[in-house]
Amino acid sequence: TDTLDDLDVEGTTVGVRIDVNSPIGDDGMLADDARLRAHVDTLSELIERGGRVAVLAHQGRPGGDEFVSLESHAERLSKLLDHPIDYVDATFSHAAREAVTALENGDCVVLENTRFYSEEYMEFEPERAAQTHLVTGLAPVLDAYVNDAFAAAHRSQPSLVGFPTVLPGYAGRVMESELDTLGSIEETPEPRVYVLGGAKVSDSIDVAWSVLEKGLADHVLTAGVVGNVFLIADGVDLGDASSDFIYDQGYWDEIDRAADLLDAYGERVALPRDVAVERDGQRHEIGVNALPPQDAEAAMDIGSSTLSYYQRLLEDAGTVILNGPAGVFEDEAFEKGTRRLYNAATDVEMSIVGGGDTASALRQLGVEGFSHVSTGGGAALRMLTAEPLPAVTALENGPTQQQPADD
Ligand code: 3PG
Repeated sequence: TDTLDDLDVEGTTVGVRIDVNSPIGDDGMLADDARLRAHVDTLSELIERGGRVAVLAHQGRPGGDEFVSLESHAERLSKLLDHPIDYVDATFSHAAREAVTALENGDCVVLENTRFYSEEYMEFEPERAAQTHLVTGLAPVLDAYVNDAFAAAHRSQPSLVGFPTVLPGYAGRVMESELDTLGSIEETPEPRVYVLGGAKVSDSIDVAWSVLEKGLADHVLTAGVVGNVFLIADGVDLGDASSDFIYDQGYWDEIDRAADLLDAYGERVALPRDVAVERDGQRHEIGVNALPPQDAEAAMDIGSSTLSYYQRLLEDAGTVILNGPAGVFEDEAFEKGTRRLYNAATDVEMSIVGGGDTASALRQLGVEGFSHVSTGGGAALRMLTAEPLPAVTALENGPTQQQPADD
């Protein structure tokens, strides 16, 4: 893949796809800027080298609480880069094209959340993605495309695979270093343990299938909402509060997939042995045999016996790959599982953490000492399952179609 070293930046209008998908506070503003910080090097290099920079990114998912505009991201980027960064509330319309064509050397504008347009939340083959409104609307005013959004590289969405199909594509600095560092999973020390927590249940089940099927994982440890889904799949009654949450998130069908996985590879999949709920305003742990909890009590963390069990499995590991918190770490009563589990993982010879919410959890909890903390969650996991990343493949393949004319 070509990198910024191969791009003649000065005077070039570059569309730069970054991944700044971040936690959003109740005030609708950014709650953590780690992902923005990660892209500072790429953006400042393009600006300093005289590029005309149009930034593309997504935030949240349609219908979700974090599905907000990129205005506050642009403001924060401006502070981080110590350089004025414009924002326009358009992505590929006339207003967006005007903002891009008005750029002078060293200028930078953040375009609106790509997912405000429905096609961006669909996955396409690159050639089809190149025909979407986003790509046909914006590509004519761009000379080159830089993909720095490693964290979104597992999505085959238009802003990720469409542009490099019609424009010369380059890996940004984050993309370049992630691809170098994560390298080849087959070369990491064995035994390998995958810890799958957090709330992205279907992605985690995909990963579990893949690493178990390919023999990459000696053990898969489940925690967080992922662990809860596996417990239900195993016949445990977690009570209404946890079940309703899983249902509301649209993950009900995942229970059957989790059950199939347990049938096929159950001996290598570890399930929580106890969970923590809130009772009388306190953390209260319940063994799985004593479940369900009382009405309205949700499983918010893994409990102490799960922790000891998982710590034992980690003691023998050569490599541990972790993604997603073990519980509701934002709440002091339920951060213990995440803190202890991740701390135990730092003692493993090679410890790789998949990013996003996990990286912000670790910063908040002050857990340090991993071999690598990736900016990507799902993308890092995909790479660590030895699966190709569609956005990287599209960059590698280079333009296969002519750039639409600017008229
Ligand atoms: C992530 O946070 O993992 C990436 O930004 C991709 O987001 P998505 O899972 O909503 O596609």
